[in-house]
Amino acid sequence: MLKRALTSLFFFLLSAGLCASQTSSRDAEGHEWWQHAVFYEIYPRSFADSNNDGVGDLQGITSKMDYLHDLGVDAIWITPCFPSPQIDFGYDVSDYENIDPMYGTLADFDRMVEEGRKKGVHIILDFVLNHTSDQHAWFKDSASSRTAPHRDWYIWRDGRAPSQPPNNWISIFGGSAWKIDDKTGQYYYHFFYPEQPDLNWRNPAVEKAMFDVTRWWYRRGVSGFRLDAVDTLFEDPELHDNPTLPGANKYGDPNLENKYNTNLPELHDVLRQLRSVADESHAVLIGETWTSNIEQLKAYYGARSDELQMPMDFMFTTINKLDPAEFRRQAAAVDSAGGWPVYVIGNHDMVRSYNRYGDGFHNDQIAKLMAAFYLTLRGTPVMYYGEEIGMENNDPQRKEDVKDPIGKLGWPTEKGRDGERTPMQWKNELNAGFSKSAPWLPVPASYATHNVETDLKDPGSILNFYKRILALRHTNPALIEGAYIPLNQDDPNVLSYLRAYKGKAVLVALNMSSGAQKITFDLAQQGFSGAKLKPLAASEAEAVDSRVSLQPFGAFVGEVVK
Ligand code: GLC
Repeated sequence: MLKRALTSLFFFLLSAGLCASQTSSRDAEGHEWWQHAVFYEIYPRSFADSNNDGVGDLQGITSKMDYLHDLGVDAIWITPCFPSPQIDFGYDVSDYENIDPMYGTLADFDRMVEEGRKKGVHIILDFVLNHTSDQHAWFKDSASSRTAPHRDWYIWRDGRAPSQPPNNWISIFGGSAWKIDDKTGQYYYHFFYPEQPDLNWRNPAVEKAMFDVTRWWYRRGVSGFRLDAVDTLFEDPELHDNPTLPGANKYGDPNLENKYNTNLPELHDVLRQLRSVADESHAVLIGETWTSNIEQLKAYYGARSDELQMPMDFMFTTINKLDPAEFRRQAAAVDSAGGWPVYVIGNHDMVRSYNRYGDGFHNDQIAKLMAAFYLTLRGTPVMYYGEEIGMENNDPQRKEDVKDPIGKLGWPTEKGRDGERTPMQWKNELNAGFSKSAPWLPVPASYATHNVETDLKDPGSILNFYKRILALRHTNPALIEGAYIPLNQDDPNVLSYLRAYKGKAVLVALNMSSGAQKITFDLAQQGFSGAKLKPLAASEAEAVDSRVSLQPFGAFVGEVVK
């Protein structure tokens, strides 16, 4: 009893300490800590393996806290590390208030929080709120009988005819979104795998239980959550069929418009409530907010800025080529949407940015150009581990090597997401220094040249370029607070803009073409007559007075000096 009381007191003091530091971190412009922080996504299976079993763990993350701090990271978002049968590698949670033994213990978690606190690195967890694992005690009870206490915690319906699911909805991971349960004779709904039954968010008991989960982690020192798959929380209670579209998807299912099972307005109510719980702890909510237009993205901030502080803009990631006009359009749209912009170029669900933007010849240079771009926009960036060393996709070559179930199901059209989830490349050593045992996924051959240890020693490496830009982001007032002002908007090759603040400015010029480019900027037009450019960070670029010369895919970041 006494031990328990002391533990609660410890967590109370810990969270009070964190809250105090978060509240006082508002800057002169009234911005909160997360608005000028750099977030970094960690896939825990693949970051650092402290016990050499081939799978990363929390102690591994803790051991890299100095690396993260020195890189310029202020917060890490760890993808789900809770107990799970690992069907979807943690996105099938069987207990929300514990740590999967594969990753360690709650004591390891507390040590990681503490170490993060010492190094100024906030911990953000992943909240999988649309569904649980079918092995969660709630679902086990729910499936046990039609009258079980948790029956209505999930979405159970009769088939529309014998052996026919309730409607035509399909799972995003292939096949019908309904699975028959032989014991109780009803179907349950799963937007993702059948092992990931959807929670019934229309049930207040579900709301309460899930809000309490977030409180539990806030008390343990978590600074916020990344909310998984938020657009899938609600379904049409009438179960209308989704409209069919021409063609079939990669699993051979008919294409449907997910009109009745995604993006229902009710989800905003839940986000508002989650936000008010987060506000009790000064925590931040990041959204996995896939949207098809800026209006949808705006809605996630909330009509009264009372929903997500950080809805990620994924429309940015769908611009898969170096197209200045497209990037200009998207950056301007997000910048003027009224909320704080959140930029991402890669994550554990998409081909790595190194491959998406690389042309096969200038990939390292292009990786620096992308860093100089999304890390200097007004807003908060969310990096993906390994991006800073130019990690590339390592897709499985044979179906039998695939780990991600969607790759098994959709092979060879869909190879799954293993390629972007390979172990972090720390050293030019066995298994890239990630583990002494064979890692759960193989490292690509590029680890010999693209690894932390080698890159730290090379002043021209991608890693040192990231460090330079991230250091500027933390110290240069124009990059911290400045307005985003696009320049030379008709230029088809070079994307350029100013970040201007209180009579000072930083100019960014990015050559998105494979030819050399020279530009003389008319800085007088921006109120900087007679100004010159002083380089702050440059890669294959230089400036004389107000003229910038850029080699193919060159990137220039410079101060406008009067
Ligand atoms: C999100 C995650 C993805 C996962 C899915 C189901 O999209 O990013 O990895 O498979 O949700 O939870």
